[in-house]
Amino acid sequence: MNYDFDKRIDRRGTNSLKWNVPKEELPMWVADMDFETAPEIQKAIMERAAHGVFGYSIVSKEWNSAYVSWWERRHSFHMDPDWLLFCSGVIPAVSGVIGRLMKEDEKILIQPPVYNGFYHVIKRSKKALVENPLVYNGKSYEMDYADLEQKLADPKVSLMLLCNPQNPSGRIWTKEELLQVGELCAKYHVTVVSDEIHCDITDPGCRYTPFASVSDACRDNSITCIAPTKTFNLAGLKTAAVVISNKELRKQVRKGIQANEASEPDSFSVEAAIAAFTKGEPWLEALRAYIWENKKCVEDFLKKELPWVHMISGKASYLVWLEYSALDRIHSSQNLEQDEMPAETKEREENNRNFAGFLRKHAGLYLMDGREYGENGSSFLRMNIGCPRSYVTEGLTRLKKGAELFKSMNEMRD
Ligand SMILES: Cc1ncc(COP(=O)(O)O)c(C=O)c1O
Repeated sequence: MNYDFDKRIDRRGTNSLKWNVPKEELPMWVADMDFETAPEIQKAIMERAAHGVFGYSIVSKEWNSAYVSWWERRHSFHMDPDWLLFCSGVIPAVSGVIGRLMKEDEKILIQPPVYNGFYHVIKRSKKALVENPLVYNGKSYEMDYADLEQKLADPKVSLMLLCNPQNPSGRIWTKEELLQVGELCAKYHVTVVSDEIHCDITDPGCRYTPFASVSDACRDNSITCIAPTKTFNLAGLKTAAVVISNKELRKQVRKGIQANEASEPDSFSVEAAIAAFTKGEPWLEALRAYIWENKKCVEDFLKKELPWVHMISGKASYLVWLEYSALDRIHSSQNLEQDEMPAETKEREENNRNFAGFLRKHAGLYLMDGREYGENGSSFLRMNIGCPRSYVTEGLTRLKKGAELFKSMNEMRD
């Protein structure tokens, strides 16, 4: 079957968070896609809607088996159907886990630059945050295991929130890397929450490794969050699954999710997940190929037209991470005191710090500012290319326009 990913669908007027922007702006920020979901999922939702009665719903056994067979087939990981808990989202699950498992004075470890929702949920849960920054090697990110061990050794650190694959860089962690994380966490009695929401959209030929699959210890010491929402563009339907093999841990997490009032499905979220994981494969394969072409389009454009912006080419997700540290080399008047600065210089300094804001204001291109993902996200932008290619090229044209304007307002060093 042919799927028309090139089709531009007007999302304005649908209460879309992403498109709730002035009409001259092109939104490429929040992580949902501008594609219709798979026809099989649309059909399942429409059939359910046509029934017309929307009373309380339950989670059927088919829901568990749809997840189990998808992970078996696509990720070579066997999950027992009983390991799965329904939750109305990954973040509600994380919040429930924190609320149930952590004592008031305990701390949670994350690895920035990382999904900004992690910061928000930790802050709302009033827990102390410990950061083990990922190391940027000019091309990709690596974990700093020595720092990780030192941080995990703090007896107050009781939970690690892992992003696998990684948002925003798209990095797919290898089995060996996950094994090291698992061993360190087991050594220091730190439970791992592995957020695997981005696991299905990978470059053609690439697969991710579920954290729980790498060893028995990793499986029994972890809580995995998975969902069809990123993969099939269903973020507006609140649906996810939490996978826990360890019976006692599962019992606690179930209570945490219930305490958060996030354990009951609406009338569509179970049906949609079942349709996705039983019938969505051909659509997903076509989508992965399309996203891959979009990535190549960004990479080729940047090489030719904007060589001082680099795409970090992770192998997962429809998000690209753009590095623009060349801007940091722009002549600036850092040694001037603020009040000595001419107004124009002050504006330039602010632009330097806020390139995302500059692009939005001057080129109508709405990207995510890398600083949303932690301090080491500065000098990066996150661009969502889960959209028709014509948006991608328009976004790139706007990026170039904004960057050139920026350049003309500043002076580049060599
Ligand atoms: C890594 C990651 N986890 C979780 C979420 C949000 O999941 P949910 O909408 O199910 O809470 C996102 C959304 O962008 C994400 O990127």
